[in-house]
This record gives sequence, C-alpha cells and structure tokens, in this order.
Amino acid sequence: MSGRLAHKKILLGITGSIAAYKSCELLRMMQREGAEVRVVMTQSAQKFITPLTLETLSGNEVVKEMFPSNRVIKTRHVSLAEWADTLFICPASANLIGKVASGIADDFLSTVIMASRRPVIFAPAMDYEMVQNPIYLDNIEKLKRFGYHFIDPQEGHLASGAKGPGRLADFFTLFENLNLILNKTNSLAGKRILISAGPTQEDLDPIRFFTNRSSGKMGYALATAACLRGADVTLVSGPVNLEVPIGVRLYSVRTAIEMRDAIFAAWPQNDVLIMAAAVADFRPREYCNNKIKKSQFDAQLALAQNPDILQELTLKESSGYKVGFALETDNTKANALKKMNQKKLDMICLNDPSEKGAGFQGDTNRITIFTADDQKHQLPLLSKADTAEEIWNVIETYL
Ligand code: PMT
Repeated sequence: MSGRLAHKKILLGITGSIAAYKSCELLRMMQREGAEVRVVMTQSAQKFITPLTLETLSGNEVVKEMFPSNRVIKTRHVSLAEWADTLFICPASANLIGKVASGIADDFLSTVIMASRRPVIFAPAMDYEMVQNPIYLDNIEKLKRFGYHFIDPQEGHLASGAKGPGRLADFFTLFENLNLILNKTNSLAGKRILISAGPTQEDLDPIRFFTNRSSGKMGYALATAACLRGADVTLVSGPVNLEVPIGVRLYSVRTAIEMRDAIFAAWPQNDVLIMAAAVADFRPREYCNNKIKKSQFDAQLALAQNPDILQELTLKESSGYKVGFALETDNTKANALKKMNQKKLDMICLNDPSEKGAGFQGDTNRITIFTADDQKHQLPLLSKADTAEEIWNVIETYL
C-alpha cells in the first residue's frame, strides 16, 4: 500500500455541524492516501448525514451508540481508542469541544476521546459568533495545554448566510495537518534547509516573458518531506500553482536574478541547500517598457546570460551541504557528474524528462543520485513525494 497515510489507522469522529457533509470526501481522500478509516458519529451528526453513507464508504460499521440495544460490546471505546493511530474529529462542534474540555464522556465519541492516548485532532466548524465565544476560546486553550491538536476554521461564507470565521478548514489544510501530525519525525530536527523550486520568468516586455515547464512539484515535495522530519524549511519559489506546505517559510520570486538574491540572503542561516528550481539560463537582453508591436519585431532577439546561482554560491560559500539537480536528455550520467564537479556540489539528482513519468509537471519522477564521494543510488519510478523521502534518506546519512 502506498500514499502518505499508508498503514495509518484513523478514527474519524463526526459531530453535528453542516460541514458533516464534507466528511465523506475527506474519508475518501484519506483512503486514497492509504489510510484505514473507521467512523464514529454523534446523534446530532446523524441529523446531517446518514451512517449508511459513511458505512458504505468506509466498509466498516459506523459506531453510533455507547450501549446499542441489540447487543453488548463490552469495552469497544477502549479497543477502538487503542486501534487508532489518531482520532480526527472533523467537523468538531462547540458542544463536543466543550464536553471534552470539561471531562464529560456521555456518548461514544466523547468517551473514546477520553480513553485515547493517541493524538486527537479537532477541526472545528461553526458559526462566526460561536467561534468567537470566550467560553469556546477558553475550552480550546485548555485542550491545547493538554496536548490536543486543532486545525483552525477559516473565513468564508457560512451556512447562516453570514461571512466570517468558522468554516471548516479546506481539504488541503486538513490533509497537510493530518499528515504532519501523523508522520512527523525528528530526524532533521535542528537542521535549517533552503530549497528552490519552480521555474523563473524572464520578462521581454510588460506582456511577454520566457519561462519553462517546471511546476514546482519536485521542490515542494522536498520541502514537505523535510518539514515532516522536523527541519526548519525555507522555500524560494518561482511562480507555481501549488499550496505552500504547512510550516514552510516561503519567498516568492519571478526572475533568476530575484531567485539569486533570495537564495544568497537566506543561505547564511541554513545548513543544506537543494536547488530543484529550473532557473532560466538566459533572459532577454533588453526589457522593453512598452508592448513590442508586431511591426517592431525584426526576428532577432538578443539574450543575456543569467547568473548560475548554484555555481556562484558554491564559489563564495564553502560551508554546508549543497545538492543540485541535473535535467539531462543525452549523455545523462556524464553531464550530471560534470555539473556536480563544476558546481562543487555534494550531491546531484539526475532526471531525464524524455523518460516516461520523469521530470517536469507530473506527479512522479525517476531520479539517480550521485554523490561527491562516488556513491550512486538509482531510484525507481516513484511519486514525487516518495522520491523526496528517498533523497532525504540519502542526504541524512551525510549530515
Ligand atoms: O518542478 P517540476 O515540474 O516538479 O519538475 C522538476 C524538475 C524537472 C524541474 C527538477 O526535478 C529539476 O530537474 N530541476 C533542475 C532543473 C535545471 O535547471 O537543471 P539544470 O541541469 O539546467 O541545472 C543544474 C543545476 O543548476 C540545478 O540544480 C539548477 O537549479 C541550477 N541552476 C541552473 C541554472 C542557473 N542559472 N542557476 C542554477 O542555479
């Protein structure tokens, strides 16, 4: 089984909130990422969505009652609490949060939370007046002091018609937080990591620019994985359509020169640099302040060379561990090794975009890692998330 939640057992607790309808899609998302999900619903949750839906999706009986009338299941609140790697209460109502904060266990969900020694994550959803209620805020502070996790609700349109804070966090935020809490290790704790990702854009006039096919996925996957290992991560990113990984510090840039300035400014505070960005080697020599007219174009475009960020940095700064990427389609190994030597790198990750599933834009990559001490690691075709994990596994052996 693969996926970022592979082999994780999640007990999904659903309470009475209109956002309960979102828990179906959330359950599916968790399953797609490899998790086994079982569901507990409160009485109020069942007013919003039927247990049959969740039973069908999860493939397991939904637990609804502490004392079902037809049979006695002795200590199911204890066995389910032990079974789960985490209890994910989504959506979490003010009522459930208030009960847990007061030590009340009067139904199955509040009892299983009380019985659990595993991380409990609340994703609250309620109207904006409720979310600002001092009693609710007090309850949250108290639960945080006891180590309970919260994924804050967001601003937006609410079921009451009002607009404000209280909306259940979006799926990306829910999932990334869940991933962070479930998968966090400390293997890179205390390490400061600088990563570049995405393309650069090189302006010709106010309308046009040169760029390349980089989506940023590889660099962002490396940033997410480093964050999950407890590192302090700074990401310098060209323009991409990706969410910033939770816990990562982002500097957005457009051009190669902006990227160089951001990398040079950030580097002294870091221990490891990974240049996964596809930096444009050239830019138009002249920037035209006005849109170039068709009639002005004489079929010749003068180019200027952009700085080689990695090479400039390694020439100037000898400390730290520096990793480059090599994007090669021919003489791949020889060219990658040449780049590693020229740029004085500790490691280079070779990818060949002419191979199926490798390189730009897709969710997978096939990387060969070469290190300055002549080690080679040939990775199979993997998701970019798994590729990032493998790259970190190798880097960690050198730190
Ligand atoms: O973003 P994705 O869609 O997920 O795609 C991932 C990727 C293919 C962009 C990524 O895996 C990758 O290969 N990134 C490096 C692309 C590249 O520019 O390779 P290169 O062989 O041209 O450059 C070698 C190294 O020098 C790279 O680390 C590059 O960041 C760096 N470089 C390049 C040019 C330049 N002017 N300055 C640099 O620092």
